[in-house]
Amino acid sequence: MRIYQAKNYQEMSRKAANIISAQIIMKPDAVLGLATGSTPLGVYRQLIDWYNKGDLDFSEIRSVNLDEYKGLAADNDQSYAYFMQANLFSQVNIRPENIYIPNGMEEDIPLECSRYNSIIRSLGGIDLQLLGIGNNGHIGFNEPGEAFELETHCVKLTENTIQANARFFDSMDDVPRYAYSTGIKNIMQARGILLAASGEAKAEALYKALYGPISPAVPASILQLHNNVYIVADEAALSLIREKGCLDAEEERP
Ligand code: PGA
Repeated sequence: MRIYQAKNYQEMSRKAANIISAQIIMKPDAVLGLATGSTPLGVYRQLIDWYNKGDLDFSEIRSVNLDEYKGLAADNDQSYAYFMQANLFSQVNIRPENIYIPNGMEEDIPLECSRYNSIIRSLGGIDLQLLGIGNNGHIGFNEPGEAFELETHCVKLTENTIQANARFFDSMDDVPRYAYSTGIKNIMQARGILLAASGEAKAEALYKALYGPISPAVPASILQLHNNVYIVADEAALSLIREKGCLDAEEERP
């Protein structure tokens, strides 16, 4: 595990985008596992900037998104499909047929989950999975307490996550209660994992994820067992780790 420290959100975004950029340059038809949320927005802005400058080409890139709210259609402006179009896909030359996101409108849960797992397998797996981290330690919508061995599944969102998402909806009643999410198993099978974190609200989750016991109580803690993880975090997100003295002697962990 390698920890890249950044001063602030902007620097974190650039450093994380650099890692994705390296992946795209080294493997132009890479399968990128992409994420939504406020954390990756700056990363996507940076990638778009480099694309506009002619430094990046997405024409062969395949993308597999982590998750989607159940019950929201792709044209709903709160769906993750909409988010990805607005914040990345519509602004680079990725081909629409190479974009994969769980179908939030599929009522048949086992069907949708097995369809999505088959897609990931048929693409040959994920080369680089981008992740944010929830302030409860979730990755994707893999909430505390869920089994590590799950693949794509339908998640009942925790109250914590519902509250955190409420800012994007007109009323609490509009906040979806369920989501399709790739599972920890899908994430751990990615050949590389890039976790980005910014802000003090993430400090405790990041500390527990990187230095706490490996436990479903902190889903991101499983990343300690992956052999190719890049953490890019700003000072605020690293504040507790630094306070505990964990980063003094080393930036790179075995
Ligand atoms: P955020 O969410 O990027 O909006 O903070 C991250 C997450 O919940 O995984």
